[in-house]
Amino acid sequence: MPSNSALFPRNFRKKYPIAVRGEGCWIVDKNGHRLLDASGQAAVVSIGHGVPEIGRAMAEQSSQLAFAHTAQFHTAPAQKLAQRLLALAPPNFRSGGRVYFTSGGSEATETAIKLARQFHLESGQSSRYRVVSRRQSYHGSTLGAMTVSGNVARRAPYQPLLAEWGHIAPCFCYHCPFGKNFPECGIACADDLDHFLDKNDAASVAAFIFEPVVGATLGAAVPPDGYAQRIGEICRKRGILLIADEIMSGMGRTGKPFAVKHWSVEPEIILVGKGIASGYAPLGAVLMAPRIADAFERGSGAFQHGFTYQAHPVATAAGNAVLDYIESHNLFDRVPPAAEILRTELAALQSHPHIGEIRGLGLLLGLEFVKNKATRQPFPKVDNIAERIHQAAIAENVLTYPTQGCVDGVNGDHILLAPPFTISPSECRVIDNALHSALQKVFPS
Ligand SMILES: Cc1ncc(COP(=O)(O)O)c(C=O)c1O
Repeated sequence: MPSNSALFPRNFRKKYPIAVRGEGCWIVDKNGHRLLDASGQAAVVSIGHGVPEIGRAMAEQSSQLAFAHTAQFHTAPAQKLAQRLLALAPPNFRSGGRVYFTSGGSEATETAIKLARQFHLESGQSSRYRVVSRRQSYHGSTLGAMTVSGNVARRAPYQPLLAEWGHIAPCFCYHCPFGKNFPECGIACADDLDHFLDKNDAASVAAFIFEPVVGATLGAAVPPDGYAQRIGEICRKRGILLIADEIMSGMGRTGKPFAVKHWSVEPEIILVGKGIASGYAPLGAVLMAPRIADAFERGSGAFQHGFTYQAHPVATAAGNAVLDYIESHNLFDRVPPAAEILRTELAALQSHPHIGEIRGLGLLLGLEFVKNKATRQPFPKVDNIAERIHQAAIAENVLTYPTQGCVDGVNGDHILLAPPFTISPSECRVIDNALHSALQKVFPS
């Protein structure tokens, strides 16, 4: 297809409108077409688009000092944001926790993998290097992050480049990998970690990484009570670090600052991205509990890692301005009632013959489409249902986040809804109306 763009697109078969402006929950394109951002793009935008205070704070920082290399300086916005993130984290991050800023989620995962490895070296456990994860998960697109990801389609082309450190069963009640039901299952998927370690050289494992709520890959799959706690117990018992990837689920998206706060589990590393700067700047972070930082401080003193743009002054100024906005508008507290309104609007969709489940936590919701509701059988991949629903919703001026593969890595269609926390009741109705029309178009009766 001839194109007058020099940009390498995500997909050469698709057309991309030019986005020019954002206003609250809406994005406006070059032709003045307004689209309701029901997915916060990719669960990124939490405070809404076009908030002028954020741009002002970034311009102010940039005019004072746009860049200082972390090998030579620390800066006030990075110091301040680190303190604020630790104060939002579970109690085990207080009194000595530290934060390592990156320019996004994948860099945060990459950093955590190396941090876990070097932590064990500093602690005299040089045999530990593998980071175990779950099938049907996503932790980022760089090679280390892909190695721990269990997203079949996203891994497939790079398989020869990826180490095999081992993946355990996902925690996915709607399509339980053990064919069981909660609570009779006894949370077999958590015990799968223990069984895996029994059989796979536990002494070489450095960490276990998981998404507390599985976002893109499973469409907002929430674990049953007891899962995260059991995983935490197994990691503690085995001397393995627990890494919670909260790149999508963190910074208030599920109704608490971090999703792990819904359950009694205390990871030792938390990854943040997306909502940390609500899309105003490329920013991510690795939060670590005191004993991890202590091991480096008492040991070699230096983490053999680094990015030129880590802890960037303008990006961390954006992070502070976003947190100021969240605090002054009480936006974390707004998530549960806004989610309730959105769920109530969507409730009638649950009886649609091709909606298998509406699931999620807070404003991280997934709608899974099934061919047969009784058996939960997915549509064949070629039917491209999630993308067709997404396109039909765009025709109604509503943006969603479609993905395939939630059932077995290939089949299974869902869309994510993750609107800004400022979503209004009337905007929730617009989303619901658009989805009704989209379903009507894709599944005409
Ligand atoms: C849970 C999770 N981890 C990691 C990433 C990678 O983040 P980024 O795309 O900012 O590199 C994502 C992105 O979708 C994610 O959802």
